Amino acid sequence: MDKIVIALDGPSGAGKSSLAKAIAAKLGIVYLDTGALYRTVGLFVRRNDADPKNEEAVSALLPELDIDVKIVDGAQQVYLNGECVGDAIRTPEMSMYASAVSALPSVRAFLLDTQRAFARRSSVIMDGRDIGTVVLPDADVKIFLTASDEVRAQRRLKELLEKGQTVTFEEVLSDMRARDLADSTRAAAPLKIADDAKLLDNSELDFDGTVAAALDIISAAK
Ligand code: DC
Repeated sequence: MDKIVIALDGPSGAGKSSLAKAIAAKLGIVYLDTGALYRTVGLFVRRNDADPKNEEAVSALLPELDIDVKIVDGAQQVYLNGECVGDAIRTPEMSMYASAVSALPSVRAFLLDTQRAFARRSSVIMDGRDIGTVVLPDADVKIFLTASDEVRAQRRLKELLEKGQTVTFEEVLSDMRARDLADSTRAAAPLKIADDAKLLDNSELDFDGTVAAALDIISAAK
């Protein structure tokens, strides 16, 4: 297969990471979850007791922050100054920290190279919010995956409960709406569909149906 670069964007809880993992396995390509990079910056900011909305305070921390991504047995591991962050970045608190730091232009610029380097090196499917619009505007395929907010909150709730966290549907839905609003109205690289992206709404699709629809989009683009 020729080298292929796939950009997968959309709001949280649409199922981007599960879809990207399945596509990566099917096509034998690398998967990069870019949200994990913003979460890792958020974790570092939290550990340093800094305000994640304060650009000056966060920018001052960036020179002390080294983020490395390794793919181990097909799974992505993110390292923060040499320490594997594991599930520490997957809490609701880190979702809010990630959303806050992701609005800062200095943080977006800081992570741009790490993301682009992946697409230069190998075939990749990269998921995030601005992959098709900013990070990889020349991607071979662009998919914008979405679903209604209730459906997305239900999926996120299931994931969090499976991890043993105590949250309610109402909390997850209201966090998700707050994040959707912040992610799509921020000035720096807001969440929006690229002009040349294909919209895939999976509110009514199960996982296999979503994978099949995405593979159809990819084959049509090749
Ligand atoms: O996909 P996620 O929930 O792990 O993303 C965490 C936050 O990071 C989310 O609020 C939006 C932000 N993000 C972003 O701004 N750009 C990306 N490419 C990926 C994530």
